[in-house]
Amino acid sequence: MTGCPKSLHTDQQCSTQMASGQLSRAEALACSGCLHACHVLLYSDTPRQLFGNIPIRHIILMQMRFDGLLGFPGGLVNPAEETLEAGLTRELSEELGVALPISVEDHVNSCHAPASSPSSSPSSRLITHFYVKKMEEEQIIEVERAATSTATDHGHEVLGMVRVPLYTMKRGGGLGPFLSHSFIGSARSQLIDSLLRLNLVAPEELHEALTRSLKIHSHTAEDLKATLALPALKRKQL
Ligand code: APR
Ligand code: MG
Repeated sequence: MTGCPKSLHTDQQCSTQMASGQLSRAEALACSGCLHACHVLLYSDTPRQLFGNIPIRHIILMQMRFDGLLGFPGGLVNPAEETLEAGLTRELSEELGVALPISVEDHVNSCHAPASSPSSSPSSRLITHFYVKKMEEEQIIEVERAATSTATDHGHEVLGMVRVPLYTMKRGGGLGPFLSHSFIGSARSQLIDSLLRLNLVAPEELHEALTRSLKIHSHTAEDLKATLALPALKRKQL
């Protein structure tokens, strides 16, 4: 990791504690040996209700990625050739079919990708830049339409757009089960941080959803262990 300022040498993962350890945009850009990726959380308010009685409250867009993980739209940007925000707009044009303008004011934080990230080898340390942009509900719906019609990445790098369910239903459905899926890099922390910072979900509600998510996770592990036997059984039959 040559060329990085001293403060970049800690392997700082963006999380709820990020305020103490995050990199400034300028610090991140000073790292000559680092790769850069920019992603954005797009959201709107909505008055709609699920089944006529569960307030949906907000629409937050995420995507099912080519690698089977949930993440935010965006991608790799080369600051030597374009600004971070212009690069993000270019990525959005490919992944969403709309060249949404993103500005420096939409920037939330920059930090190192988690060490477990496949691209975080010592020779190519990845810095992720995260943005949030509020839109009108009609604009969000337009983006969803374009993402499946005009976006060049649809069906390739992006398998589909998904909305984040922010409610918790009587039997626990909603945000808890959503959070139990697998996410790329810091995407889950970025989502949770944003929900808290933007007051989209109350902290106690979020805590409850995460607790539920953890329970689902252990059930999933059991279920996976059981299904692991199936291919072995089929092989024996052949
Ligand atoms: N937190 C941390 N890292 C992330 C996050 C996130 N929320 N989202 C994505 N990444 C990482 C990915 O693991 C990837 O290494 O950032 C890098 C770039 O993000 P992508 O959106 O995957 O990049 P994109 O430019 O859209 O290209 C898609 O093409 O060349 C391949 O493997 C390359 O993943 C890349 C893919
Ligand atoms: Mg991408």
